[in-house]
Amino acid sequence: MADETTSAFDARRAHWDNLYATKAPTEVSWYQEIPTSLALIEATGIGPDARIIDVGGGASNLVDHLLARRFRDITVLDISEQGLAVAKARLRTDASRVNWIVADATEWRPDEEYDLWHDRAAFHFLTEVPEQNSYMDGLRAGVLPGSHAVISTFSEEGPIRCSGLPVVRRDAERIGNALGDDFILRFQKNEDHRTPRGTVQNFAYTWFQRI
Ligand SMILES: C[S@@+](CC[C@H](N)C(=O)[O-])C[C@H]1O[C@@H](n2cnc3c(N)ncnc32)[C@H](O)[C@@H]1O
Repeated sequence: MADETTSAFDARRAHWDNLYATKAPTEVSWYQEIPTSLALIEATGIGPDARIIDVGGGASNLVDHLLARRFRDITVLDISEQGLAVAKARLRTDASRVNWIVADATEWRPDEEYDLWHDRAAFHFLTEVPEQNSYMDGLRAGVLPGSHAVISTFSEEGPIRCSGLPVVRRDAERIGNALGDDFILRFQKNEDHRTPRGTVQNFAYTWFQRI
């Protein structure tokens, strides 16, 4: 019989694989043609040699925009192989310029350092403190002093669910509390995201740097 960890992973993966298999990438509620995060990533001043990881990147076209800006060391991690398959198919031959990892961010541990860790709307699905802590252990192992974390979640004005799942809403201060005292807030803004169906969702966008 599968242990509890395996079951939780399988349930999560099945939810997201099913979603990416049944919805067009431009129809998912979180779709952005030009990701808001792009401007925050550019504001950090990192150059094209920087090592960037997009955690819970799914089918996001952030990777397309990063490749267009000549970033050379990009990793996209997601629990859903199906979500990554959508991005790979869109990128065609450029997909080989990206490192793809299928993993649960609450369990995965980096084996290299990153100059920038990006997460838009993945961390907020972690509703239990142990899994939040475990995610942050992974982040802290991969983001060393001087490096950046660009993280966004539904804000405290945002919806309480996303994609049918409960979320933890946070403002910049609460995102900072989760990261820890050695991450300082460089920039934050809240922004209304209009979903393809016209619903408004308020996001908290943040850029932190580890000191
Ligand atoms: C709301 S979508 C956001 C996708 C992308 N970041 C964007 O902004 O377009 C959440 C993503 O997080 C992924 N995800 C959810 N839980 C995860 C986990 N524990 N580990 C890794 N990825 C996860 C989902 O598969 C999905 O692709």
